[in-house]
Amino acid sequence: MPDRTTQSWAELNVASPDDLAGLFQALAAELAADVAAAGEEAALRAVRDRWLGRKSGRLARIRDQWLAAAPREWKPAVGQLYNALARQAESEFARAQARFAAVQAQAMIVEDAVDTTLPGRAQPAGPAHPVLRILDRITDVFVRLGYSVATGPEIETAYYNFEALNIPADHPARDDQDTIYLAGAGEELLLRTHTSPVQIRAMQAQEPPLRIVAPGRVYRHDAPDASHSPMFHQIEGLAVDRDLTLGDLKGTLDHFARELFGAAATTRFRPSYFPFTEPSAEMDVSCILCHGAGCRACKQTGWIEILGCGMIHPALYRAVGYDAARWSGFAFGMGVERVAMLYYGVDDLQRFYSGDLRFLEQFAT
Ligand code: PHE
Repeated sequence: MPDRTTQSWAELNVASPDDLAGLFQALAAELAADVAAAGEEAALRAVRDRWLGRKSGRLARIRDQWLAAAPREWKPAVGQLYNALARQAESEFARAQARFAAVQAQAMIVEDAVDTTLPGRAQPAGPAHPVLRILDRITDVFVRLGYSVATGPEIETAYYNFEALNIPADHPARDDQDTIYLAGAGEELLLRTHTSPVQIRAMQAQEPPLRIVAPGRVYRHDAPDASHSPMFHQIEGLAVDRDLTLGDLKGTLDHFARELFGAAATTRFRPSYFPFTEPSAEMDVSCILCHGAGCRACKQTGWIEILGCGMIHPALYRAVGYDAARWSGFAFGMGVERVAMLYYGVDDLQRFYSGDLRFLEQFAT
């Protein structure tokens, strides 16, 4: 079909209103057919340019040539028909455009759809570190006995780490060898060398009766090797009440050993010395590997030392303002890595800090 909009008004040969109406009807049908034939967005854009293009689109030509050139008496009719055709064009394009958008949206929904029947992707779960697992187990034994959990700062003052614990200034534990001091601090600050300062903080914070365990990190000036680390974990225990005796201390810790290592575990207490307890003792547990027969882990003795303990020294009660005549109590402290090594049969402390997942994943259950 020749494009009639390229013809001039004179070439159209319009002789009657019917001629004019027929002409516009044909154009409207052509427009509708053009839009219907556009199978994709790019084609629709081309059709739109052909009809609605600003300068050389068909509607622009009708307006600029026919409407301009038509004699006065024809102008109103041409103008009306032109407007109707322009409105039809706008609405046809808008409808077609909306149709394409809907199809595209549908396609995106299908493409992005989640197949809910697929099995989920398993994320590896990070289990707790073996040292922390043991720390939790130890804590739980005492929590079941009615102890609560207390904490204290890892950066301590010399007062809490030493003085209040009856450790005089010339005690070997104060050697620079053992203690990591923080330079430049006005007060004498250090990294706590044990969890015992939490004893003082707990007693300052509350009145007896008192039963707490204090798990946490401690630091010492030690080179790392199979049994040493500059950072390790301890758990402290403290009980203050009326009439607590060495028998209560032994009974509590013996119960703890059987809860952690099994009913067959036995304990023994050897006299020892700590400035903050009197009397003081070290507790051994029957070797969990050879059950007392003698092996490498227990150096053929059948016993493994696991903690220090004793009855609270009266100097501590004085430091916190407790009446030493009224209250008695006991304390204990143990190295958690040591217990973890025994418990899991690991012979090199450094493996716990290696970050080697092949090693650490063995303790996942
Ligand atoms: N604080 C001591 C240590 O680090 C252990 C201990 C705690 C001993 C409580 C007696 C009472 O070796």
